[in-house]
Amino acid sequence: VQTSIYTPSDWLKPLDWRKVFARSGPIEVDVGSGKGSFLLWIAQSKPATNFLGVERLPTRARKIDKKILKLGLENVRLIRVEAGYLVGKLVPDESVRAYHIYFPDPWPKRRHHRRRLLQAGFVADLHRTLQPGGAVNVATDHEEYFEQIARLMTGHGGFVPTELETLPAEAKTDFEREFATAGRPIYRGRYVRAG
Ligand SMILES: C[S@@+](CC[C@H](N)C(=O)[O-])C[C@H]1O[C@@H](n2cnc3c(N)ncnc32)[C@H](O)[C@@H]1O
Repeated sequence: VQTSIYTPSDWLKPLDWRKVFARSGPIEVDVGSGKGSFLLWIAQSKPATNFLGVERLPTRARKIDKKILKLGLENVRLIRVEAGYLVGKLVPDESVRAYHIYFPDPWPKRRHHRRRLLQAGFVADLHRTLQPGGAVNVATDHEEYFEQIARLMTGHGGFVPTELETLPAEAKTDFEREFATAGRPIYRGRYVRAG
């Protein structure tokens, strides 16, 4: 059966990107793809770039997979795994050109904050796996989580906050569409790996 969901033969070894995509090209990772609107949009608008969408929920991954196959996209693959594990254990060092982390679950209650994806260890893994000059793009509707993320990225010391990329309306993620319709503010950051 044809699928864009990549299942590594060994879940303990770093991925070989040429095997994942069966072609060469820069790599970008969409963390927590959800319904996949952003992933599908960016993959179509940058056909020379390879995009990996990570989504831990099987039903969501399967729905995006169907859309990828329908569109016949050769430059998108999905992986069904916890994003912290992906970046910490499976992504090779200095191999990613950009991460897209849009609307990570905010876990608003204080006692749940430790479940948040963005923690110091995850930020260190983002840095190690980015190529120098590569970027982390973040968006959230949760002001306090955004402030925490900004502190983590600055506190790491290896990132430079940079101007946001301007993207067209079609680039909006599914969550962004909902929040924008509700008129809620969205906080965004872009951090480039320095050296
Ligand atoms: C709030 S949604 C945002 C989806 C999409 N990025 C958007 O903006 O529309 C977060 C998504 O990330 C997935 N997710 C959350 N934590 C994850 C993790 N640690 N590893 C992999 N996927 C995760 C959830 O299943 C969900 O689909």
